[in-house]
Parts: sequence; C-alpha cells; structure tokens
Amino acid sequence: MSQAAAVAGSGGGGARPRVFSGIQPSGEAHLGNYLGAIRRWVELAGDYECFFCIVDEHAITQRYEPDELPGRVTDLAVSLVAAGLDPETCTLFVQSHVPEHTELTWLFNTVTPIGDLQRMTQFKEKSLGQATVNAGLLNYPVLQAADILLYRAGLVPVGEDQRQHLELTRGVARRWNARFGDYFPEPEALIGDGGGGAGRRVLGLDGVSKMSKTSDNTIPLLAEESEIGRRVASAVTDPARVRRNDPGNPHVCNVFSLHGFFTDADERDEIEVRCQTATIGCMQCKKALTRGIADGLAPLRERAAELRANPGAVAEILAAGAERARQVAGETMHEVRRRMGLGPGAGRPA
Ligand code: TYM
Repeated sequence: MSQAAAVAGSGGGGARPRVFSGIQPSGEAHLGNYLGAIRRWVELAGDYECFFCIVDEHAITQRYEPDELPGRVTDLAVSLVAAGLDPETCTLFVQSHVPEHTELTWLFNTVTPIGDLQRMTQFKEKSLGQATVNAGLLNYPVLQAADILLYRAGLVPVGEDQRQHLELTRGVARRWNARFGDYFPEPEALIGDGGGGAGRRVLGLDGVSKMSKTSDNTIPLLAEESEIGRRVASAVTDPARVRRNDPGNPHVCNVFSLHGFFTDADERDEIEVRCQTATIGCMQCKKALTRGIADGLAPLRERAAELRANPGAVAEILAAGAERARQVAGETMHEVRRRMGLGPGAGRPA
C-alpha cells in the first residue's frame, strides 16, 4: 500500500484508524454472528473510528418480503445495540439510508472483472440450483467493496467466510487506484476474535456446516433459556458416542467447542474428562451448555427488552448513524467523481 493510501486507511491526518463491517438483516443475530464478528466489533469500538452497517441492499439479492424487511432491520439493530454497540463510540447505520453505497458500486463495477465475481464461493453456493440468477447476486461483492471503501476503512472485522470477499475488495481498490490515482487503502480482514482462532467459523447445530440462518442450524443471540435448551438438545455430538457408556471425543464435538465460549475453564476441563471417561452423558453436557449460554447472554436479553419497549430510541440511533455516515461518504464520493471525470464539478481543479 502506498503511504497516501495507508494514511487514508487510518482515517487520515493521524485520526484513529478506521474500521468498517456489515451484517445482513436476517432478523435477530445468531451465535455465529456474535462469536465471529459482533463481539469483536464491540471491543474495537473504543479504540478505532468504527462504522457498522446493516446491509439491507445485500439482503435483497435473495428472495424476500418487502413488508418484512424493515422489521428485520429493526430486530437486528436491537441485537447489535443489546450486544454492546454504543452509538457514542461507533456509527451504526443502515446501508439503504446512505445512497452513496450503490453509486460507488456502479463505479466499481467498471473496474471489476466478471471472472473474479464468478469465482466467488458464495456466489456459486447461492446461485446453485436457481433457474435464473439475478445480477445482484453476482455483483454482491462489489457492493461489499463499496461499503468498505466508501469509508476508506483499513480494517474489516469478519468471520472466515468473508475472507474471499475481502480479497476481492483489495483487488477493486488496487485496480481503481492504478487507473485513477492512489486514494483507497487495501483493507485488511480481522478474522474471528483473535483468541487462537476461536469464532472464525462457528459450526451450526448439525456440527458440520457453518452456523447460518439459511441452514436453519442456529442458536439465536437473544433466545430465552427454554429455546436455547431446545436448540442445544437437537445438536449433533460425537457420532461415535452412540450409547451413554461409550467414551466420547470432545475434540470432534461441536457442543464441547461451544462450551469454550460460555463455560468457565474448570467446569470445561471437568466436562472434557467426564466425556472421555463416559461418566457424563451428552444430555448433561448439553444442559450445562444451555445454562452457560443463557447466563452469559442474560445481560443482552435484558438490554434488548428495554430497547424493544422504546423503538423510537433505536430509530434515532440509526438516523444519527446515517447522518454521520453520509458526511464521510459524501467526501469520498466528491473525490471519486472528480477523479473519474463525473458530476458537475468534474474537470475543475481539485
Ligand atoms: P453475514 O450477515 O452473513 O454475517 C455477519 C458477520 O458474521 C460472521 N459470521 C460468522 N462468523 C463465524 N461463524 C459463523 N457461523 C458465522 N456466520 C456469520 C460473518 O463472517 C460476518 O462477519 N457479506 C457479509 C455482510 C457485509 C459485509 C460488508 C461485511 C456486507 N458488506 C462489508 C464486512 C464488510 C455477510 O453476508 O455477512
């Protein structure tokens, strides 16, 4: 990265380095989102200039009900604030409230090779079996590049599944800079929570695929203890442990890996040994996990209940976030249009 771009990536002029990340409004967030991304966002918010975005325009690349989308956005905003995102220390906003995202997407389309988009794993997965594939699904990562680069962010905290999209973003920045002059940083992905890789790719209740709403294998972040219990009870454990007295291998068991986030070290060590020696059954282990998740996330549920009782407060947070985001986005677009020879100011000296 050139020095100019590096400075831009840190927010410019010695300001706090800039961070951007996004999440789709699939309703309430789940544990995969939380462990893979959101809790890291909360940590970063104090030290960096952070922009966190609810990406409703990404969500419409899949089938959806327009009447339900605003509610999904609000539910997610509640989850994020309840999880600890504080509007005093970060900018939280909705993508469609800042139209510069789609404008920059169009401009970036002109420097993005189709082949790069066709190679994206998520594009291949999501278009599989569809009779017609909409162009938005193909161009999805270009919108993601625009999200990040509109704020000239240098750091992007995400789960492992977003690594390829981040590589594409870096390529977009590189190509655009080569054509129109150094302006965008090449952002770095911050994968997982940095704690020995935990949270990079949280598995779902099936124990094999990524936890995701589309796979219907999630534990919702704000679920009540009874629902957590039901979901955890259905989780797949060590397949070799068929009977209660079969010794288990906790290291191939996703329930045990979730204990890593929610159960204190002594209890976890005990569960590990008792699973290996078949002195504890999977149901007992799952009950302990249910308790750990329910207790660990109780403060989030309480905050969410307060926020739901006051929907105006959430709307205000999002409106203030959009206003701040538009300031920065407007500055970037002014410079981008000028360099690309577009808009009424084009052709005039900088
Ligand atoms: P999305 O909405 O699928 O997920 C939001 C964040 O949660 C992480 N995540 C996971 N991490 C670990 N294990 C899991 N099972 C798991 N499931 C989800 C994701 O990696 C992500 O960090 N395309 C993005 C949204 C996006 C974006 C952006 C992200 C749009 N523009 C700009 C970063 C920067 C997506 O669909 O994330």
